[in-house]
Amino acid sequence: MLNLLVWLGVLAPFFYIIYGIVQLTFLGNIFYFGPEPGQYILEWMGQSALAMLFATLMISSAHRLWALPIVRYRRRLGVGTFFYALGHLLAFAVFILGLDLTLLVQEIIKRPYILVGMTALVLLALLAVTSLHTLKRRLAYRWIQLHRLVYWVAGLGVLHYVWQIRDGYFLFDFYLLLLVLLLAERVKAKKVFNPFAGRKTTY
Ligand code: HEM
Repeated sequence: MLNLLVWLGVLAPFFYIIYGIVQLTFLGNIFYFGPEPGQYILEWMGQSALAMLFATLMISSAHRLWALPIVRYRRRLGVGTFFYALGHLLAFAVFILGLDLTLLVQEIIKRPYILVGMTALVLLALLAVTSLHTLKRRLAYRWIQLHRLVYWVAGLGVLHYVWQIRDGYFLFDFYLLLLVLLLAERVKAKKVFNPFAGRKTTY
């Protein structure tokens, strides 16, 4: 049951976009996503990526603090984060750049926070690729070290977000507070014996 709920949670933002596109293109509901559908999809994908990223980090903390048996869903949420971040990039390339990559430099000069988002996405790609079971096994302890980068991704994601907010800082305040709490938990986490490292480390 929980398995199904997690799948639904990961896929719901995507289904919503597909439903909206069907409304917009086939059912004549042209204002389904408001006056700027492209901008709406871009923002929706970005928000979904950030929300899923924080959900992933919360699973890690919950696992360390209370040994909750939900850690097996973490990978799914992590891959979901990457999927929505890619969708966000695709929406940016299609709706903002009009698939004209020569406009990218102009856009970066106009909105430097794009570079921050790009850095976060590159790191996310690295984490997604190394989540493949074979690579995970081969990297062993280095996998744990590498995947600590996810906290940097969260920091970059929050910076990318706040840099372009025009009004309404509530969500930003929420993510910032959550990031501080998650980092504090991570730093204070109890070390346990790690068979990959042959010594006590923080998972
Ligand atoms: C190649 C990478 C990326 C590019 C080019 C990019 C670009 C953009 C752009 C153009 C906006 C819209 C700003 C506006 O409203 O004018 C935006 C917003 C946003 N991005 Fe990104 N981004 C990237 C990566 C990411 C990543 C990795 C995340 C999350 C982990 C993210 C999360 C967000 C969020 C939450 C918003 C705010 C949406 C809103 O206004 O509600 N972005 N991004």
